[in-house]
Amino acid sequence: MADPPGCCRSCATCLLCLYSCQWITAKKEKRKGLRTTKVIPRVMLSRGWPAPAWEAQSGDWGAEGFWLGGSLWLDWSLLLLIATAVLITYSAVLILPALPACRMLCAPLTALCPAPQTLLILTALVVAAAFIGLGIKWAEEWRSARVSLQATGPFLHIGIVGGMTLLAWPLASFIYRTHNTGLKVFLLFVYCMVMIALYLAPLGITSPCIMEENQLPPKPALVGHRGAPMLAPENTLMSLYKAVDCDVQVFETDVMVSADGVPFLMHDEELTRTTNVQAVFPERAALNSTTFNWTDLQQLDAGSWFLERRPFPTVQSLSAGDRYQVTEQRIPSLEQVLEAAKQSNISIMFDLRPENHSDYQSFVNATLEVILQSGIPLQQVLWLPDGFREQVKQQAPGIQQVYGRKRLQNEKEPLLHVNLPYQDMSSEEIRQYRQDNISVNLYVVNQPWLFSVLWCSGVSSVTTNACQVLKEMKHPIWLLPSSTYLMIWIVVDCTSFLAILWAFLLLKYV
Ligand SMILES: *[C@@H]1O[C@H](CO)[C@@H](O)[C@H](O)[C@H]1NC(C)=O
Ligand SMILES: *[C@@H]1O[C@H](CO)[C@@H](O)[C@H](O)[C@H]1NC(C)=O
Ligand SMILES: *[C@@H]1O[C@H](CO)[C@@H](O)[C@H](O)[C@H]1NC(C)=O
Ligand SMILES: *[C@@H]1O[C@H](CO)[C@@H](O)[C@H](O)[C@H]1NC(C)=O
Ligand SMILES: *[C@@H]1O[C@H](CO)[C@@H](O)[C@H](O)[C@H]1NC(C)=O
Ligand SMILES: *[C@@H]1O[C@H](CO)[C@@H](O)[C@H](O)[C@H]1NC(C)=O
Repeated sequence: MADPPGCCRSCATCLLCLYSCQWITAKKEKRKGLRTTKVIPRVMLSRGWPAPAWEAQSGDWGAEGFWLGGSLWLDWSLLLLIATAVLITYSAVLILPALPACRMLCAPLTALCPAPQTLLILTALVVAAAFIGLGIKWAEEWRSARVSLQATGPFLHIGIVGGMTLLAWPLASFIYRTHNTGLKVFLLFVYCMVMIALYLAPLGITSPCIMEENQLPPKPALVGHRGAPMLAPENTLMSLYKAVDCDVQVFETDVMVSADGVPFLMHDEELTRTTNVQAVFPERAALNSTTFNWTDLQQLDAGSWFLERRPFPTVQSLSAGDRYQVTEQRIPSLEQVLEAAKQSNISIMFDLRPENHSDYQSFVNATLEVILQSGIPLQQVLWLPDGFREQVKQQAPGIQQVYGRKRLQNEKEPLLHVNLPYQDMSSEEIRQYRQDNISVNLYVVNQPWLFSVLWCSGVSSVTTNACQVLKEMKHPIWLLPSSTYLMIWIVVDCTSFLAILWAFLLLKYV
């Protein structure tokens, strides 16, 4: 086993040839204009975009933590876990026994130690168990793994190739020392196969952000999730004005109807989380929000909880003026909000809750009445609730209907707006909807990396808690023309291959 393994050498020569052929062909085609991708039609919208349906539980901000970048964390922790397992196995099997000091120490243990093959199998089991364990713990995050891979895939690939290349050293060292031919051949074979798979992996990696600069769709509009909930208490007028300052185009909210028929903004079934109902009406605090009349609701403080419970770290950095304004917030009526929206030229999108209340139709009627009387241009109102939608369409045809589902096979009238969780739509679907002039709003998108991928995919808008962060983004975090990506890919693979060759040659003579 003096030479670098023949199989690796010829495989790699083949691969290099394949890459360069592909690259040259791509260049030629580009010059001939064959690769110009179809120009994606811009979604034509008069105003307004769809936004978020509601979350399963009150106060549920979506499974992703804000500061931990959602499932990016998952990717990297898994990678780390696997790398650790592989390294431990390698050092146990290959390096430690090779050290003279260790040989003396280990000699008595060798009899007890499992064979290298057993260790490898054990490692595989540990990694599998870790995957399953994490899978259960982070079930929600797995749903976003696909999007997350689109953001990290190309770089994850480089990282893994780098890690596996480093393993060439202990491997070569072991190969030159061992006398067990079967084991040598087995290890070389496995290593070669893994490296070939890794070298070719980019063939299977697609990311919407691998595209030419001039094909980048326009930046998605921002929909403020209950306003700007990191800067002001959710679902208040202050939250609406903060959202307007944030270049948000749609204020997403939740409407309920009071016992005496006044529509007001409230997300939860109960008032306890976002008001001081426990201090004002202690004996009625646990009742449903809709059992209070408007006179009672107006007495509640809907802001101070924000300073006390600090739902986001941003609360600490509020100015003194903002803090004072927070404590002044009351539960707003829909009428007040429509007036503010009209003056600020912001659209409003809402859910009407609780959806299966026995008086639901009267809630719909009361809400419609307030909207029609407010004088707000109806195209500035985006209607989410499915109940009595036909009646709403008839009575107020100007209102934009937003659907919380994908289109059906034989949709009777074309959907114009859909509003879904970002995990539910693939880049391909987003592209299709865009071509068919359906505006797509995805929720809840807070991290710049996630926003970047959705931007590249071409969504019309996203619902966000962090408008102050996304507002500042002038460009996706990364955008690679496919030829550049191909170059990176070839360079990484070649470098890795040369490093492996070098390891085998060097260790042979050392
Ligand atoms: C609150 O509303 C839910 C569903 O809308 C209902 O099941 C529950 O009984 C109500 N609670 C009270 C105290 O009215
Ligand atoms: C609102 O409810 C409170 C207590 O339930 C009652 O005292 C008050 O008269 C009601 N106000 C109106 C205007 O109905
Ligand atoms: C209102 O906003 C829309 C876009 O959201 C814009 O096209 C329109 O010019 C604005 N109107 C006014 C009066 O500012
Ligand atoms: C009311 O709606 C919730 C979710 O919106 C659902 O879980 C529940 O089963 C519904 N209850 C009734 C009585 O329909
Ligand atoms: C709601 O309005 C519709 C249409 O005007 C009417 O037919 C229906 O009876 C109303 N329902 C309630 C509960 O007021
Ligand atoms: C989408 O809108 C554009 C511009 O208004 C139009 O040219 C195109 O035909 C529309 N596409 C579909 C599928 O309706």
